[in-house]
Amino acid sequence: MKTESIYFIWAHPRADSLTAHIVEEMQGQAARDGMSTTTLDLYRSGFDPVLGTEDEPDWNDSTKRLSPEVHRLFGELEGKDTLVVVFPVWWYSFPAIIKGYMDRVWNHGLAYGEGHRLPARKIHWVGLVGGSEERFARRGWLANMTDFFNGIGGYLGIEKTEVTFLYNTIGVEEDIVDRERHFENLFAEARGVVSGLAA
Ligand SMILES: Cc1cc2nc3c(=O)[nH]c(=O)nc-3n(C[C@H](O)[C@H](O)[C@H](O)COP(=O)(O)O)c2cc1C
Repeated sequence: MKTESIYFIWAHPRADSLTAHIVEEMQGQAARDGMSTTTLDLYRSGFDPVLGTEDEPDWNDSTKRLSPEVHRLFGELEGKDTLVVVFPVWWYSFPAIIKGYMDRVWNHGLAYGEGHRLPARKIHWVGLVGGSEERFARRGWLANMTDFFNGIGGYLGIEKTEVTFLYNTIGVEEDIVDRERHFENLFAEARGVVSGLAA
């Protein structure tokens, strides 16, 4: 059986954040499952999320040469089965640095446009939600964000989009009795995302 190849993209200003620990748990599971992994830590890689003229698509020329950084980062996606994007939910979206990554790296003539698509077959989005699942769903954010991610997957020619939200990541909900167990459960859920990729 072919070894599953994962490309992790994650964003958090702090390297010791819960988001970072979730990524570590997922990387550990991937290693135990014999998967090959590459990780892009957007904050600490010094990635500039602002799209400038160099990376602005030329709609009439899909062969336009973009910045070396964009070609390098897009090249890293070659041969990967799954992109796993891990992020804290900020304003019912992802941090701006991820939007900038998409603007620049998933560019016209590379990830979409005539004859182009993202090299990976799957994207799995993993969002850490500060609040409760009940409120997230009741206020429409679960459907809204899931639709958004599915739409992006379709545009990029991705076969399968999966979305996992981890809830109560601030850990202050009244019904959390045992905080340690709560966070252990979140880590287990994150590890389960990785184990499920080979299925
Ligand atoms: C700028 C900002 C916006 C946020 N917006 C939301 C939000 O829209 N919904 C929510 O449930 N939590 C929101 N949060 C809380 C984060 O989701 C939460 O702090 C994070 O998932 C916890 O993981 P961390 O410790 O790795 O940051 C926000 C936090 C920040 C800093």
